[in-house]
Amino acid sequence: SPSDPDLVERARAAKERLGEKVFVLGHHYQRDEVIRFADVTGDSFKLARDAAARPEAEYIVFCGVHFMAESADILTSDRQQVVLPDLAAGCSMADMATAEQVAECWDVLTEAGVADSTVPVSYMNSSADIKAFTGRHGGTICTSSNARRALDWAFSQGEKVLFLPDQHLGRNTAVRDMGMSLEDCVVYNPHRPNGGLTAEELRAAKMILWRGHCSVHGRFTLDSVNDVRERVPGINVLVHPECRHEVVAAADHVGSTEYIIKTLEAAPAGSKWAIGTELNLVRRLANRFAPEGKEVVFLDRTVCFCSTMNRIDLPHLVWALESLADGKVVNRIQVDPETEKFAKLALERMLALP
Ligand code: 13P
Ligand code: SF4
Repeated sequence: SPSDPDLVERARAAKERLGEKVFVLGHHYQRDEVIRFADVTGDSFKLARDAAARPEAEYIVFCGVHFMAESADILTSDRQQVVLPDLAAGCSMADMATAEQVAECWDVLTEAGVADSTVPVSYMNSSADIKAFTGRHGGTICTSSNARRALDWAFSQGEKVLFLPDQHLGRNTAVRDMGMSLEDCVVYNPHRPNGGLTAEELRAAKMILWRGHCSVHGRFTLDSVNDVRERVPGINVLVHPECRHEVVAAADHVGSTEYIIKTLEAAPAGSKWAIGTELNLVRRLANRFAPEGKEVVFLDRTVCFCSTMNRIDLPHLVWALESLADGKVVNRIQVDPETEKFAKLALERMLALP
């Protein structure tokens, strides 16, 4: 069981044996049993920066998903080794854009005569290959906390943006935050010839959105928002920008996991909040803020955990830490040097955004 005192003690002991050699990063969507052993917690952006700021740690244990561990490997020195406690902790959204599909898309854009004026912007939730493609073509990475700044920068470099792989974050940022219209956005479907778009549609668009989405956030609907407002009068609706556009449009506040936490910290006692994001985080926030008289509920009770985030559990963490303490590196995530070079370029552009 996750609260098995023996496992808790083993994790503690292994961390103690490793001392300064190990640094454990935990994404906000991780289980309680894992997050308690994290040296730092954060959203994707904060964790990427924190990983890069720990040159003394020989081992970075990443409690999160595969693309985050890859990014940590890219941003840390070659001497440092990044470990993902369960290699099956992927991300279904990141898997929706493969290197071959994106290369084909770029050919379609080239055919239509728009590639030269298009800047790729890729969400952190993408493979190292996609990040390398982005770096090679003059683009940047973004996260949910800096998507607006990334798009502002991209539109200073070109006329159009190819936004990968989350159509919702791309659309929400363009329309809600930057005042573009829904008609400025087209969706490129990698499973259709030419992405399902004509050359004229590509030429007329400002935002070319990849047809990807998050399977967790995609399940919140406009009904979820309307129902909770009806059930709890005066409730504030706060959602992650990976939610569908109509959900974001109906919400009161929109932001990354870190933003969600900061907003609740600043909220007055007696306020009520419905949160549209992953369940581990919402539960933790509900428990944390209840004593302060802030009521936190889940936006839709039928939506649940991110199953791949949940793969990292205490037994996997104990196994990874004990192996490292015995001098054996398991589940190392290592990006090949050529991919790393261009992916790093794109990540560094993000880190340099104003
Ligand atoms: P943030 O932590 O950047 O808000 O991202 C959410 C997410 O889906 C990570 O997989
Ligand atoms: Fe991927 Fe969504 Fe899970 Fe985040 S919450 S890791 S985007 S599937």
